[in-house]
Amino acid sequence: MRIPSGVSGFDELIQGGFLPRRLYVLSGPPGSGKTTFTAQFIAEGLRNGEQCMYITMHETEEELINDMSSFDFGFETLTNSDGFRYINLVSPKGKHLLNQFSQSGSTSNVQSLTDKIVAFVNSRQVDRLVIDSTMLLRLFFANGSEEMTRFLTALKQGDATTLLISEMTDPSSYSDEHFLAHGVVFFHNYLEATGMTRGIQVIKMRGTNIDCDIRSLSFTDNGLVVDPRSKVDL
Ligand SMILES: Nc1ncnc2c1ncn2[C@@H]1O[C@H](COP(=O)(O)OP(=O)(O)OP(=O)(O)O)[C@@H](O)[C@H]1O
Ligand SMILES: [Mg+2]
Repeated sequence: MRIPSGVSGFDELIQGGFLPRRLYVLSGPPGSGKTTFTAQFIAEGLRNGEQCMYITMHETEEELINDMSSFDFGFETLTNSDGFRYINLVSPKGKHLLNQFSQSGSTSNVQSLTDKIVAFVNSRQVDRLVIDSTMLLRLFFANGSEEMTRFLTALKQGDATTLLISEMTDPSSYSDEHFLAHGVVFFHNYLEATGMTRGIQVIKMRGTNIDCDIRSLSFTDNGLVVDPRSKVDL
């Protein structure tokens, strides 16, 4: 079984969709479409009646909904459904929600943050999980990559199909999460005389015969659209 991404044309690059219960990392420069892609992924899940969770440290739920309201994929209406949970880790509400899952009673250490998030995700039987983003997650993980690795390993073992946004401006500077993940997708954008050229590229996807060329990516009224037949040269 494959999980449809919700992004038109993208699934053709990965044999029809994501393999379920796996961890995928989305990387790319600012404004390249990472958050929009994950919003479409969530919208697709909600349309299919799945449990979906969006964990962020970036913005409020209202800001995310406002940003996505310029598209017609129905994000606002869909996120009103019972299947949707939004958690901002730095908001009092988000912290309160997670503290209900504190096993040790200690809410301050990083170890317990990992445990709380993972326990929360598993308790809700989440089908689709988005985490935006590793840059901000690192702020929580004071001891750096060791705790991050523990967190990602726990997510890999969970039941959700997870998209993790990991900012990256240099396409050759890989991080631990790129190696740990089952799949890695790069977003590209570069300014040309004619305007911004956008592309998307599947770098790896275990168990899947991928198209790893850079394919054309564009913003339309319905959100991001991939043209699997149009190759973009860097
Ligand atoms: N129709 C549109 N509606 C909204 N944004 C659009 C549209 N067309 C192009 N964009 C651009 O897409 C970008 C937003 O994309 P998105 O937030 O998905 O990127 P991102 O990769 O998550 O960026 P960041 O790393 O800064 O979070 C903005 O720069 C915005 O100007
Ligand atoms: Mg973003």
